[in-house]
Amino acid sequence: MNNPKSHPVSLHGKRILLGVTGGIAAYKSAELARRLCEVGAEVRVVMTKNSEAFISSLTMQAVSGNAVRSETFDEEAEAGMSHIELARWADVIVVAPATAAFIARLTHGFADDLLTTLCLASESKIAIAPAMNRVMWSSPATQNNINQLRERAITAMGPDSGDQACGEVGPGRMLQPEEIVRQVNELFSSEALTGLRVLVTAGSTWEAIDPVRGITNLSSGKMGYAIADAAVHAGADVTLVSGPATHPLPNRVANVIKVTSAREMLEAVMTHLDGQDIFIAVAAVADYRPQTQAASKIKKQGEEVLRMEFVRNPDILAEVKEKVPDLFSVGFAAETDNLISEARKKLLAKRADLIAANSVSGESNALGSDYNTLQLIDRAGVVSLGPALKTRIAVDLIQEISARFHARGTLQSTR
Ligand code: CTP
Repeated sequence: MNNPKSHPVSLHGKRILLGVTGGIAAYKSAELARRLCEVGAEVRVVMTKNSEAFISSLTMQAVSGNAVRSETFDEEAEAGMSHIELARWADVIVVAPATAAFIARLTHGFADDLLTTLCLASESKIAIAPAMNRVMWSSPATQNNINQLRERAITAMGPDSGDQACGEVGPGRMLQPEEIVRQVNELFSSEALTGLRVLVTAGSTWEAIDPVRGITNLSSGKMGYAIADAAVHAGADVTLVSGPATHPLPNRVANVIKVTSAREMLEAVMTHLDGQDIFIAVAAVADYRPQTQAASKIKKQGEEVLRMEFVRNPDILAEVKEKVPDLFSVGFAAETDNLISEARKKLLAKRADLIAANSVSGESNALGSDYNTLQLIDRAGVVSLGPALKTRIAVDLIQEISARFHARGTLQSTR
């Protein structure tokens, strides 16, 4: 079964919703959950009522490290993460084992228990590992259902052929957990940024005046963090360099470097530049810093007007492009006026491959908001994204970046 060309198995940061339905193969679901966790996935288990006859929810909870759910309207569980949030949370829903009855309900869009509801409410990939008696598997009803599911891009993994629990021999056995893990990994291997390294800056910078004061801006980190998370979701190996931010760090970005000032941000970026394929500068970097930083708190001396000198900070985006001209670089432009023309100037001045421009004036001010609207400007023209949640915009932006990155590779290799 081992395919030497297959993608190395790492599901680091992937969110897997493991559905367990009521067949004898459910006893193998515990090993599947354990193996998925071992290769870095975050696993949440949803069990159908019938599956509990074959394996206990306590076992599934112990191996997945998360509480198991089976009821659609479990008040306590809903308070933590509603079933709709759970449907959105998953990168992939893997149902193993998938009984003939579950396959039939999935095919016909039933939402009569938590697992079928989640499948219907999710935009994520869905994969099933069928497990049933060979006659049930070969029946025209099941085969029709499977074909319909395949047409809807739902992946059927297996089944395997061999001795069955019912004493018969033939197709219908659930694949071994190890093989299911390999195939789940394959599901992600054709993603937009698989195998690429992406460096993201996010948040604001803090330019100290003295030990207790400084200048900063209203960047929350939301947009940059959502982009870093979306890049992980798209298969990239992401390094995030973050200045101060009010938003919590994205928990599936493994490599996070926290910095304070623009100069620290530059240093961290330069240290991690080697081997990167894409640089996305989302941070709202202070263009100037106080010329001097007092070692002790500055005391007021009774002056009416206090003057302070500022000096230019390094331009991180421009310096990165200077150092690695071939690196695909994406900048942001936060503008109050003349959004497109100002963004175009930045595209040229910073020699970026793409500028994502957002308005920071009036009602459309993106700073701190959950929503954003972006105008993507490159040498080919302008594309609009949103208005939409920043998390949604981030996913679309990553697709746009990936398309341009890969197109550029094709152009270069055909020169
Ligand atoms: N940027 C950077 N280093 C700086 C300033 C900005 O890397 N010192 C990056 C930002 O992360 C963003 C882009 O450059 O990707 C544009 O930043 P913005 O603050 O909008 O523009 P500025 O170049 O600072 O120009 P201005 O303040 O005049 O609008």
